[in-house]
Amino acid sequence: MIQKNEEYIVDIIDMGYEGEGIAKIEGYTLFVKGAITGEKVKVKVLKANKDFGFAKLLEVIEKSPKRVEPVCPVFEKCGGCELQHLDYDAQLEHKTNMVKNTLRKSLGYEVNVEDAIGMCIPYNYRNKTQYPVMNDKIGFYASRTHAIIENEGCYIQNKYSDKLAKSTFEILKKNGNTTYNEETKKGNLRHIVTRVGANTDEVMLMIITKENKIKNSENFVKEVVDKYPEVTTIVQNINEKDGNVILGKKCVVLHGNGYIEDSIEGIRFKISPLSFYQVNPTQTAQLYSVAKEYAELTGEENVFDLYCGIGTIGLFVADKAKSVYGVEIVPEAIEDAKENAKLNGITNAEFICGKAEEVIPQKYAEGKTADVVFVDPPRKGCDEKLLETLKEMQAKKIVYVSCNPATLARDLKYLTDNRYEVKKVQPVDMFPHTSHVESVTLLSCII
Ligand SMILES: C[S@@+](CC[C@H](N)C(=O)[O-])C[C@H]1O[C@@H](n2cnc3c(N)ncnc32)[C@H](O)[C@@H]1O
Repeated sequence: MIQKNEEYIVDIIDMGYEGEGIAKIEGYTLFVKGAITGEKVKVKVLKANKDFGFAKLLEVIEKSPKRVEPVCPVFEKCGGCELQHLDYDAQLEHKTNMVKNTLRKSLGYEVNVEDAIGMCIPYNYRNKTQYPVMNDKIGFYASRTHAIIENEGCYIQNKYSDKLAKSTFEILKKNGNTTYNEETKKGNLRHIVTRVGANTDEVMLMIITKENKIKNSENFVKEVVDKYPEVTTIVQNINEKDGNVILGKKCVVLHGNGYIEDSIEGIRFKISPLSFYQVNPTQTAQLYSVAKEYAELTGEENVFDLYCGIGTIGLFVADKAKSVYGVEIVPEAIEDAKENAKLNGITNAEFICGKAEEVIPQKYAEGKTADVVFVDPPRKGCDEKLLETLKEMQAKKIVYVSCNPATLARDLKYLTDNRYEVKKVQPVDMFPHTSHVESVTLLSCII
């Protein structure tokens, strides 16, 4: 029986979804943060459930050749990255295997999973950075808590954001603003968010507050813009609710036009504060290119772009499609999508606000169909009502873009039990040094 606080020497036989090492002691599973497949390690059990437990890495007795020194001094404390101790090629191998193994377990057979596409320089890639502020501190949340870890510069954020966010925080404090405390419920400032258009250099600064007011707002804005003229817009976002959701629904534009623009492969996109936009611009071009290649459009196809955000995938493929029909739940994102079509002179794309699982069954009942369907859902995957309609509709191809192999595997199980077969899967590393895995899957209809 495995006991809390006991020490063991174990072999790491695999790595899990969160990049943690996995060991077995007589069938009992132990998860060990920071341990790598192939290593022999000494651990101390922190928590022992009935069938599995969590252990702290005390010593690496036999080191993997894939182990590297993390570049970031706060890697072990910060919750932002999980894989910096693993050589980048080994990270890609791990991500490919994660997709392969998860799909095999769910489908019961081996699927054609290509090697993950990585970045040439896997650092400073993020175009959006969310800095929590609390008790006079700005940084990132520690793993699994809301304690703030301060750092000298994050290696996965764009180089610009850290300086801007820290300086903004100082200017806000100087103007009499205090940070919100989740326990005492006092104070106002919650997060500082930066968004950078990697290909336009436009910068959005967002201040997330508990209350409607920012003290000395005009002074604050003037000081920031004087110091950082590259900040093209400043937006206050009000979030009154406690919890893990960072943004509230209400935005107030304090400077500029309230949005930034960016471009991917020559297509321009307007991005509003509440709209989703992929965080790794270099890899987004790769991701969308794979999705477009998998679809093999000839110009004759009616295409659905479901969970379309600001219309990026639909507009990226519109030149090769007869028509594009995008569906997205966030109204601001749909407004952006419509404007993005105009901005790029694209006239064969239509965008509708609503839940994909409600809009598509209804439109299908009215006779609307697609030859090719792109889906790019959030981490929870597609709603079964949508999958039921896709099963009935029998589009020739479904191109499934996923940021979560577990829900991808669940949805592919449904689709392969219902008229579809998986042709190929391409993981794309959108989030180097973190445990997140993105992939594109091509399904084709077999009836
Ligand atoms: C992973 S993002 C993909 C967005 C877009 N395809 C892109 O690449 O930028 C998922 C999108 O689905 C939207 N969404 C979440 N639930 C939805 C639903 N039930 N129906 C439609 N869209 C939804 C989110 O607001 C978000 O914009």
